[in-house]
Amino acid sequence: MEVYKKHVFVCTTGKTCPAAGGVDVCDALRKEISDRGLKKQIRINKTGCLDQCGHGAVMVVYPESVWYAHVKPEDAAEIVESHLIENKPVERLFYDGSGRIV
Ligand code: FES
Repeated sequence: MEVYKKHVFVCTTGKTCPAAGGVDVCDALRKEISDRGLKKQIRINKTGCLDQCGHGAVMVVYPESVWYAHVKPEDAAEIVESHLIENKPVERLFYDGSGRIV
């Protein structure tokens, strides 16, 4: 069995991300991946608190370790298309641990 080329963790069960739409972001990313037939190459996982509470929904993409904050379901298509497929991370959603980098 192949290993995933990219692995995405979306905070869905911590203190603040659930109220910020973490589950909806996860579902939207999964739908985009499924619609494009990429489920064997890219994995979207729900995760617990990533210790960045208050910046939700928070997510991280590996292996490049790119963090995103304040992600909304409507950002899913752009993240999948630009970052996960074309390897061009979505700079407007970057997060460095202190806040969004614009
Ligand atoms: S609740 Fe999402 S980072 Fe803590």
